[in-house]
Amino acid sequence: MPTILVTGAFGQIGTELTQALYTRYGADNVLATGRRVPESAGTLAGPVETLDVTDPARLREVCARHDVEIIYHLAARLSAVAEQAPLEAWRINVDGLRNVLETAKASAVKRLFWPSSIAVFGPETPRTLTPQDTVTRPTTVYGIAKVAGELLCDYYARRYGLDARGVRYPGVISSGALPGGGTTDYAVEIFYAAVQTGRYTAFVREDCRLPMIYMPDCVKAALQLMDADRETLEHRSGFNINAMSFSAGELAAEIRRHIPDFICDFDPDERQQIADSWPDSLDDGAARREWGWQPSYDLETMTADMLSKLRARRLSGHKETAR
Ligand code: SER
Repeated sequence: MPTILVTGAFGQIGTELTQALYTRYGADNVLATGRRVPESAGTLAGPVETLDVTDPARLREVCARHDVEIIYHLAARLSAVAEQAPLEAWRINVDGLRNVLETAKASAVKRLFWPSSIAVFGPETPRTLTPQDTVTRPTTVYGIAKVAGELLCDYYARRYGLDARGVRYPGVISSGALPGGGTTDYAVEIFYAAVQTGRYTAFVREDCRLPMIYMPDCVKAALQLMDADRETLEHRSGFNINAMSFSAGELAAEIRRHIPDFICDFDPDERQQIADSWPDSLDDGAARREWGWQPSYDLETMTADMLSKLRARRLSGHKETAR
């Protein structure tokens, strides 16, 4: 079994992807790392290490000591927090990726999964059913870093033969670890608020429509793309994937079908501007053709599953995400 390194393993995607990798490769073969390791990591079945991806020497040392062959590089700042400290976001998101690519080039690492995002698109991109290959002129530092990242991954693939792959994730909805500082966080917060207090104020407009994906599909996309035969891939690092698309108002209405008294207000802040620069749905034909992408969850099934998972956890004392 290859040894797999996960960076950002305690974040929203990392928490659940790490578990899926345990199932597939055995927990002993999956090294979960993060800049800060939470206390709860003590219960993980596999090895855990502190790793800051902006420290190239430590990255090289960890990869060499564990004979890492595959990396899932998830450590990053999300879009809204990145706007508050753009240079810091660049350091983590772009320099961090460059460190991972350089480490891979000089070591036994053969394959890399690195998530891109719908944030690569901008106001000049067609918004509906956004094509795979189209204008990528984002207006956020997070999006600029994602465009740079896709190009860097392709460069290392072409020039050094590194098998680097990735998808452009839409907003990710999950019941495990909370997202921290993204523009699409309202689509997760709303569920916690609905279950805990029955009331939520969304930081986007009621008619704000964005593409979203539920965590089981998010994990499935990463594993399925990494399984694909290299020869069948024409694209590599930035596959559009579509799963569902809804407005904040439609999400609130769907929750209200389960919790009739749920009240949702809308008070857009500066994150609305970021949302307005992103697509509302994506053409994911390339992902479907090249590696068989197909989502399993839509708005209805995702909402039912989210609410049942959160209710089962009896969320007392669990606070809504802070900004
Ligand atoms: N969900 C991310 C964010 O909102 C976009 O990739 O920052």
